[in-house]
Amino acid sequence: MTRYSFASGPAPLPADVIGAVAADVRQLASGPCSILELPFTHPAFSRILEGAAGTIRELLSLPDTHHVLFLQGGATSQFSLVPQNLIGSAAQADYIETGLWSHRAIEQASPWCKINIVARGNGQTLPRPDTWARTSDAAYCHFTANETANGLQFHRWPDDNSAPLVADMTADLFTRPFPIDRFGLVYASAQKNLGATGLTLVLIRQDLLERSNGALPAPLSYARQASAGSKVNTPPTLAIAIANHMLKWISSHGGLVEMEEKAKQRSAMIYSAIDESMFYTCEITADDRSMLNICFRTPTSRLDKLFLNSAADEGLFDLCGHVDIGGMRASLYNGAPRDAAEALVQFMKYFEAKWG
Ligand SMILES: Cc1ncc(COP(=O)(O)O)c(C=O)c1O
Repeated sequence: MTRYSFASGPAPLPADVIGAVAADVRQLASGPCSILELPFTHPAFSRILEGAAGTIRELLSLPDTHHVLFLQGGATSQFSLVPQNLIGSAAQADYIETGLWSHRAIEQASPWCKINIVARGNGQTLPRPDTWARTSDAAYCHFTANETANGLQFHRWPDDNSAPLVADMTADLFTRPFPIDRFGLVYASAQKNLGATGLTLVLIRQDLLERSNGALPAPLSYARQASAGSKVNTPPTLAIAIANHMLKWISSHGGLVEMEEKAKQRSAMIYSAIDESMFYTCEITADDRSMLNICFRTPTSRLDKLFLNSAADEGLFDLCGHVDIGGMRASLYNGAPRDAAEALVQFMKYFEAKWG
């Protein structure tokens, strides 16, 4: 039986990437030892880090004004590090509250600054960026590009006409082209679209480094990490090497345009199966549905449970909705094959025919 994972992260990786990582773990082709043993000060590691940064620049058309930082601590650490690094003398920041992850970002930023919630979603629909009541003297404006737990995704980008934009793109960085030049800072954990857990990517515009809070511990300071080339202390060498392979894979498979096209196709198959059925429901407004996390329910929570157990028996794993939300969630990131979406649709039809 072919097995497919629909986990929201760590997520499936392409077989080629896993093969390349396995080879690096045995012996680096361009280094003296296994990637696990390679000192971060070795030139072979510098080549890996610079290779990853170079591919990031190419894929995103990242302007020279922006730095690429390879950090640790997950996106969750960024929830409080963003205000600690960027608040400067403004003392307040704008936030868009749209679901579970933006709520957590707000909660964890609030000890560090005054929070202005300048737009809110209702759990089903996102507030359009042109309706956000942004404050001109805020230090920055933070939003969550894709609400992984709720299945919501922004498909329109805000303008950069006020305080610098900051986005949590943990679920959708490298899944579609976007206007990075409008952003002051973007952050993402790697374990969904960029490889494995342990690496947190921060892309930051030069002028924001100047706000740096000198009292922060060096590994947590964007300015210190930027001037040390992300090597203030030992960086997550293995996770960076995995990201390097994944970035090359994205690049050689059509880049972000193709990643977006594939994500659209996979998610459209599943949303169509939901919309054409009288059995499954997705409560998210059509324009705001995520291409990466497709949330749905059967008519009852008892049937949801049966769906999850029966799907696992058929080799379809990790379809459980977020623990705070329930129902089902199919997460399909860059490494997900089209076959996974097809197998899920086939199973949904079978289950509906049996229990609908
Ligand atoms: C949008 C978003 N932000 C933040 C996080 C937290 O990431 P981490 O567990 O790496 O801290 C997640 C995790 O799923 C997420 O989806």
